Amino acid sequence: MGENGNLRKGHGEGGGNPLSMVRNILNPQHIRHAHITGWGMEVPNRVVTNAELEAVVETTDEWIRSRTGIQERRIASERDSVVTLAFEAARKALDRADVLPTDLDMIIVATSTPEDIYPTTASRIQNLLGATRAGAFDLSAACSGFVYALNMGAQAIRTRSIEKALIIGAELNSRVLDWNDRGTCVLFGDGAGAVVLEGSEDAGGLLSCVLGSDGSGAELLGIPTVGRSSIPDGWALHKIHMDGREVFRFAVHIMQDSVRQAIDAAGLGMNDIQLIIPHQANQRILTAAARALNIPESMFYSNVHRYGNTSAASIPIALCEAEREGRIKPEDNIVLVGFGGGLTWAAAVIQWQGVPRPQKRGLGAALAQSRREVQYVAAFWRDRAMRTYRRVEASLRGSPAKNAAMREEREKKRRKRDDLVDPPNDRNPK
Ligand code: COA
Repeated sequence: MGENGNLRKGHGEGGGNPLSMVRNILNPQHIRHAHITGWGMEVPNRVVTNAELEAVVETTDEWIRSRTGIQERRIASERDSVVTLAFEAARKALDRADVLPTDLDMIIVATSTPEDIYPTTASRIQNLLGATRAGAFDLSAACSGFVYALNMGAQAIRTRSIEKALIIGAELNSRVLDWNDRGTCVLFGDGAGAVVLEGSEDAGGLLSCVLGSDGSGAELLGIPTVGRSSIPDGWALHKIHMDGREVFRFAVHIMQDSVRQAIDAAGLGMNDIQLIIPHQANQRILTAAARALNIPESMFYSNVHRYGNTSAASIPIALCEAEREGRIKPEDNIVLVGFGGGLTWAAAVIQWQGVPRPQKRGLGAALAQSRREVQYVAAFWRDRAMRTYRRVEASLRGSPAKNAAMREEREKKRRKRDDLVDPPNDRNPK
């Protein structure tokens, strides 16, 4: 960890301007740090192996394994939605952080596969959790989205505009796959991961973040939707299209660049980093990036063989599994790095504190848990009550929009009736 001892005091503002750094040195209380205090993941139960895909498209287990490292992925059932997966991941993250939904100030969901363009997935999660004080919005930056969202939440905490944020990455890629396109359908899977971010005077947490975009590569990877003027040949509405080779080249190059930049912005060197948690797209991308960075491939955490590419969900899912497997320890410096459609990329350095407060046990933990459960039940009934209230109120008062439209419609019909019995030419005859 080298010089971490003194770094921990001051590099929470890594990459900040000199004036604010001087102000923070003179007044260390001023610095607010954004820590990950809870994390959770959820994947559908259904495991789909490469062998099963052999029956669907012209491919082989051997091809998929050797070109990508993927062995299986999770595919959502008809009853699953991006909201149900995100909600379960969020509940687990709140449990782990021991935070009540009503204490949340902000919910950001990074997704490219929302149920609706709007209302956002984040608003649905806010409603299901009963997070009545939280602002909520979706963020679209493809597979880089989770790190973008993490940075937005952390910045809001560091400026003291909020105290607690829930950051989610969630995708139902199976619904936007063209199951006739063997070049893409074997690569993706479904899932969700969430973290709770909290402000603290303790140094650490998110140390630096590098965000980037190059829209000149827009055609290389995407999901066309309703706002387009036309759809090029070979693409389909709401289906993923990709130029695999070009995306591969971009991914290797941008991973090494952005990882280096983020580590530099945190005032650290590669030797200070214990683990890199990359977007899980392809094991060969990780092999090539490790070679380019001159580090062992084992520095990259990988679970791509289990889940394939879950887009914005892949980094928080990998984070949860890396922590569970003991790959992240308190005070480790870890790098999160994502890349994807846009083109976009994002890399962040985090000093991991685990859960900074003592974990409740026994009765205390059960009580805290039951307070959250009560809030979820209350959220369910609040939702029902609000819907009923709106319906009753609309029928009692009448909806102004509906009435206006009906009045106009009636007026149009009256004019047409008049014209029929009394055509304009026949009126006021000379
Ligand atoms: N099974 C069998 N053969 C397949 C196949 C599949 N699932 N998909 C493609 N092929 C074939 C191609 O049709 C091509 O055949 P041809 O030579 O007869 O034309 C051949 O395999 C080689 O295709 P190519 O695209 O050159 O393979 P590749 O080695 O580049 O591997 C990817 C393809 C998609 C695995 C690889 O390009 C990749 O991983 N790119 C990055 C994708 C990614 O990470 N996207 C998400 C970013 S967020």
